[in-house]
Amino acid sequence: MRKHIEGSPPGAKRVALVTGASRGIGAATAIALARRGFHVAVNYLRNEERARAVVREVERLGRRAVALQADVGDYPQVQRLIAQTVDALGGLHALVNNAGYSSHASLEELSIEEWHRMVAVTLDGAFYCCKEAAPHMKRAGWGRIVNVCSLRAMTGSDHGAHYASAKAGLLGLTKSLALELAPEITVNAVSPGYTLTDMTRTALEDPQKAERIRAQIPLRRPASPEEIAAVIAFLCSEDAGYLTGETINVNGGIYMRS
Ligand SMILES: NC(=O)c1ccc[n+]([C@@H]2O[C@H](COP(=O)([O-])OP(=O)(O)OC[C@H]3O[C@@H](n4cnc5c(N)ncnc54)[C@H](OP(=O)(O)O)[C@@H]3O)[C@@H](O)[C@H]2O)c1
Repeated sequence: MRKHIEGSPPGAKRVALVTGASRGIGAATAIALARRGFHVAVNYLRNEERARAVVREVERLGRRAVALQADVGDYPQVQRLIAQTVDALGGLHALVNNAGYSSHASLEELSIEEWHRMVAVTLDGAFYCCKEAAPHMKRAGWGRIVNVCSLRAMTGSDHGAHYASAKAGLLGLTKSLALELAPEITVNAVSPGYTLTDMTRTALEDPQKAERIRAQIPLRRPASPEEIAAVIAFLCSEDAGYLTGETINVNGGIYMRS
């Protein structure tokens, strides 16, 4: 029998927090989760207008939503983010650690500051959010955590050691917390390949680069943000109740060629 939220009737609406939900994969995930019945906290760093547009879209689907500014790489801001989510929406049952950015530099060029910033946003941020969110999920007796990782965690990244290393760290966090937070909370990762968002727009809009990339992908195209969001939303659902500590690679088959 499926477990419902403690103290609330079966089928009661759950609350999700998606970090970096103003654009790209995070925005698509907020909407996919609303379609699955979640109220959604939409975190952003700078783009308040785009976060508010995502809130309106979630509300149009009949769910409650709130836009919350916070830099996930800063622990006090994450503490405030989780408290505001619970205050505004009445609980926290699903966390999607999606906020991220990419930058490229050779080992020689990569500054110590940039290394630490990447690790702070990608790995520290996910740890901070899990640390603050898990007690709410434990209390509810039900929880889902999904870490948005990357193909690069497995393949490495030429001129992206900081990005690939931080993403690889997320896989260790995923498995460790899957062990520690069971049985109430499942913890999984989704590793996208090339996905059409602002992060990849420059490369994917250059016809020559885009062709080179397409040629490497068995499915011959990048993913849409909605195709990644669908897998994340599935992992947050009741249907994924027996999956934990897993990484789902959503990359059109490119992994087999990397
Ligand atoms: N696109 C791809 O091909 C691809 C492939 C593999 C993995 N991924 C991963 O998927 C995730 C989403 O990527 P995307 O392509 O959707 O990126 P995107 O379109 O560039 O969006 C990034 C999101 O993260 C937010 N953000 C950035 N730094 C933040 C911080 N310190 N605190 C809070 N929010 C922050 C941004 O907020 P603002 O709008 O306010 O700036 C924005 O909402 C990332 O973790 C990325 O590494 C992407």
